Amino acid sequence: MTIVKINCVGEYKIKLAKLIDFEIKGDSRGSLISLEQYKNVPFDVLRIYYIFDTRTGVSRGFHAHRHLEQVAVCVKGRCQFHLDNGKQKEEIALDSPSVGLYIGHNIWREMHDFSDDCVLLVLASDYYHEDDYIRSYDEFLTSVKNNDSQTK
Ligand code: TYD
Repeated sequence: MTIVKINCVGEYKIKLAKLIDFEIKGDSRGSLISLEQYKNVPFDVLRIYYIFDTRTGVSRGFHAHRHLEQVAVCVKGRCQFHLDNGKQKEEIALDSPSVGLYIGHNIWREMHDFSDDCVLLVLASDYYHEDDYIRSYDEFLTSVKNNDSQTK
């Protein structure tokens, strides 16, 4: 298992996901970022949700998706993503409203170390379907193995 640690946004050498730089339309009044499907978000956006007021010490996620693609943006504060494709793990700190973390399907994700002010915005390629979730880590590893054997 390779563990790649990324401590600051701006290093783009991540393997299990992609960081997307959003253009900041800044002027003397402040900043604005626009997210547009197929321009800076690589899928049809069917759902948007956001996580906020996360209690101190609470971690979230602990699942993979069978099909769903997502872009997560820490629009306020910071949090830590732990990603895992069954073979490699990565730690990515999200702390900028101008950086999106694209996560494809079949990636186990956990979110940790939410700052008190963290607002984590997530754009998703489909509506909420509980049957798209893999919530057991053992089941996730089995599904990765099955996918690998099908593609060999
Ligand atoms: P959950 O998947 O546990 O959140 P996380 O993975 O961030 O820890 O979701 C919490 C609850 O909210 C759960 O009952 C499912 C529900 N939910 C929706 O109804 N719609 C959504 O888009 C999401 C993401 C969750």
